[in-house]
Amino acid sequence: MDNKFVWGVATAATQIEGAAYEGGKGLTNWDVIPTRNGATFEGQGVTEACDHYHRWKEDIALIKELGVKAYRFSINWARILPNGVGDVNQEGIQFYSDLIDELLRQGIEPYITLFHWDFPYELYKKGAWLNDDVVAWFSEYTKVVAEYYADRVKYFITINEPQCILTGRGGTVNGAPYTSKEKLQMVHNLLLCHGHATRILHEYGAKVGYAPCGGASVPYTNSEEDIAAARKHYFRLEEGSLWSVPLFSDPVIFGEYPESYYKVYKAEDLPNITEEDMKIISTPIDFYCQNIYSGQLVKAKDDGYEVVKFPIGTPMTCMDWFIEPRVLYWGPKFLYERYKKPFFISENGCAVTDIVSYDDKVHDGGRIEYLKQHIDQFLKAKEDGVDARGYFLWSLMDNFEWAEAYSKRFGIIYVDYATQKRIKKDSFYYYQQLIKEKKDI
Ligand code: BGC
Repeated sequence: MDNKFVWGVATAATQIEGAAYEGGKGLTNWDVIPTRNGATFEGQGVTEACDHYHRWKEDIALIKELGVKAYRFSINWARILPNGVGDVNQEGIQFYSDLIDELLRQGIEPYITLFHWDFPYELYKKGAWLNDDVVAWFSEYTKVVAEYYADRVKYFITINEPQCILTGRGGTVNGAPYTSKEKLQMVHNLLLCHGHATRILHEYGAKVGYAPCGGASVPYTNSEEDIAAARKHYFRLEEGSLWSVPLFSDPVIFGEYPESYYKVYKAEDLPNITEEDMKIISTPIDFYCQNIYSGQLVKAKDDGYEVVKFPIGTPMTCMDWFIEPRVLYWGPKFLYERYKKPFFISENGCAVTDIVSYDDKVHDGGRIEYLKQHIDQFLKAKEDGVDARGYFLWSLMDNFEWAEAYSKRFGIIYVDYATQKRIKKDSFYYYQQLIKEKKDI
């Protein structure tokens, strides 16, 4: 791994591409979910999104102008394998191939996420993560990706935010009320998919990372007790909740589920866990990522912890997430302490209210302040010993924000969905300047 710090921006296929019924692409869960009553804001869907499928050159030119040296994007599985497995769609293959070539021509390193929530509908109907065949499906998909792109792409991220995927936000589990047993089976299958994908990509010489998420726990004060309490809270695993860092990361890094897993779940609910499975799951990754946006304040209580409310008036983003920049200090610090892997922030950013001004610009001062303060904290963590290798800002442009559809804007580029015109927001210029100043850290 190159140990130079990388500044980047991130997107995901379904959120920007559009062309849902073009270029031989198969359907995914996200082509279908918006049609369910109330599933997305005003039933808005992904048919056109940001029309990136047709405007990718213009978008890459914007990335180039921004000055970042890395672009994280995902592949829509059903664009290259319309049925999820079987026939390969050459038009889809060509689309990403051209994208990769253009990025490289512009001196931008592609970081490809294999799975950012779009599940081929044909396989989704068969149970998605709950069907044990998912491991074979995902491996087949990974092989196709590796075969066509690993000659030019050095960095891959297997799975984005497993916690969201399996809790409904990622839309791949239908929001159904799964039993504990089913949930744990899905977790295990997902981890196996990650492990197999890592092995396959390694065979092609690629470097592989993994991108779970979670609100980071911030110590209420800097006392030893509060720091210990926050650490304990961050690595908690509670029955019934898949919102857990160690549930999805300990098996990958240590080859074992956390001890708490065996305490909080009944033996009969556990999947069949073989030694071979754990070896596959813990195939060493080359870098570890985390998407961090917000978090919680935690203080010591007896021998445990207590989550405390944010002070009255603490600002919130449009997602109703509290703004606490220290999540980008304590999150990376605790994660690096425990997992000791080259570390990336694979997503960080915010949705604020963006209004196009009379001067045709977007003056998003709130976002600039959010970015400035979070990046400062992350760089402080780096100074304090975290082996930080990069920061990917979410997101390059406004896009389809899942259930919230187009009602929330995360971009540093504004998208007028009626005309697909892009407007660089003030935060675009802020980030451009920051990268210039800090290119050699
Ligand atoms: C996801 C993105 C999403 C962002 C903001 C992450 O959970 O990976 O796809 O748009 O956060 O909600």
